[in-house]
Amino acid sequence: MAETLQFNPNGSREARYADLAKQWTALVQGEPNRVANLANISAVLFEAFNWHWVGFYLVDVERDELVLGPFQGPLACTRLHHGKGVCAAAWDTGAPQIVPDVHAFPGHVACSSLTQSELVLPIRSGNHIVGVLDIDSAQPADFDEKDLHGLASLMDCLSTNWSTWE
Ligand code: SME
Repeated sequence: MAETLQFNPNGSREARYADLAKQWTALVQGEPNRVANLANISAVLFEAFNWHWVGFYLVDVERDELVLGPFQGPLACTRLHHGKGVCAAAWDTGAPQIVPDVHAFPGHVACSSLTQSELVLPIRSGNHIVGVLDIDSAQPADFDEKDLHGLASLMDCLSTNWSTWE
């Protein structure tokens, strides 16, 4: 794994995405443990973007639920269910969810009262959705298509490596 990731903390959000885009593969290279890699990815995203909460929910195949994975930020709900909330919407539909106002999202699961907007990206491995990356912001309407673009290389890195991780 890379020991440090380089980004300009004073750069624009797009510039920070671009800096990090070149380094995701190096961050996880040589480390086969999924929890270790997701933990470091959460830490990097949290440090680089100062979001309120950033982390992963993983598909628990046996229970057919999403279960909390590595994250940074306040205490979070441990289990999420089909048909309820933003993470489940990404899991159920396979489509990224950009939610400018979480209070207006039917069924939103409020783990923190400070969260105002949310971005959830499904993680694919082969033909399956295996988890989601969930990002919460304390600012309203903090996410748009530029975030999808900026995080695309990370999502590709996750998809490419997921099945090789223990
Ligand atoms: N708000 C999410 C739940 C997870 S927390 O935000 C960390 C949802 O509606 O699925």
